[in-house]
Amino acid sequence: MTKKVRKAVLPVAGLGTRILPAAKATPKNLLNVFDRPILSYIVEEARAAGIEHLIFIVGRGQTAIEDYFDSNPELEDQLEAKGKADILADVRKDLPRPGEMSFVRQMAPLGLGHAVWCARDLIGDEPFAVMLPDMLMAADPPALAQAVAAHDKVGGNIIVVEPAPEGEAHKYGIVALEGRDGRLNRMTGMVEKPAPGTEPSNLFISGRYVLQPKIFDKLADQQRGAGGEIQLTDAMARLMAEQPFHALEYEGTTFDCGDPVGLLRANIAFALRHPSLSGAARRAAEELLQGR
Ligand code: G1P
Repeated sequence: MTKKVRKAVLPVAGLGTRILPAAKATPKNLLNVFDRPILSYIVEEARAAGIEHLIFIVGRGQTAIEDYFDSNPELEDQLEAKGKADILADVRKDLPRPGEMSFVRQMAPLGLGHAVWCARDLIGDEPFAVMLPDMLMAADPPALAQAVAAHDKVGGNIIVVEPAPEGEAHKYGIVALEGRDGRLNRMTGMVEKPAPGTEPSNLFISGRYVLQPKIFDKLADQQRGAGGEIQLTDAMARLMAEQPFHALEYEGTTFDCGDPVGLLRANIAFALRHPSLSGAARRAAEELLQGR
């Protein structure tokens, strides 16, 4: 019996250098995708996977994230008084149940591995999820739920992967597989930002993980890797000597919202699937494309 995955770590402290100046004064994961901030979709995905506790690893200047997930009595009273029940319900949808969210300050941007390590005491001794909130995933069932289902099936550590666009594999963490039979395959290795031409496969680590708490022992030595950062991928590669890792090629579409064009794609895609505004969004997009 595998232990239930109840907690998720969301490293949000990144400076958003690929999307400046948009992310200068607004945390990049609060930038909007159509009518909601990116984090709203990520929280929805986490809850859909059964996550009960979200641990945000935040940096300086990101108090807007905590504010977003707090009630705003003036706004809510006003909406109530004006009878705007739909909007009020939508605003409240993202609010945590008491104790559902924790915020940990990462005091220096030392890398993804360091960010995850900052959650060690809050995670304790149980498997947990990591969600990279730059990567918005449109999937049904949602991407993290697919990863949790894979964990229920094979246990150990699960890394969600997908094929990298031609010539882009060196920008990511890349996995090596024992064989490729279906979507869930045992891994034999992984490497962070391999030199072009040395990638062990075309499958990149796309931003959802289920990890065993033993990863914290590996992260504890604070070993630096690619870019001089403490890399989660390096710690996972070392953990692989002791525990199984499976790569899951999830079914869905990923949008890299840390980049202006990726964020635009996400905006278009989520506008076109919006429950009430998709028709208006489609007309607006068509008019623009026709030069009207
Ligand atoms: C991080 C991970 C990398 C992964 C990528 C996905 O890299 O270290 O393995 O492929 O996210 O976006 P970063 O984008 O922080 O350089």
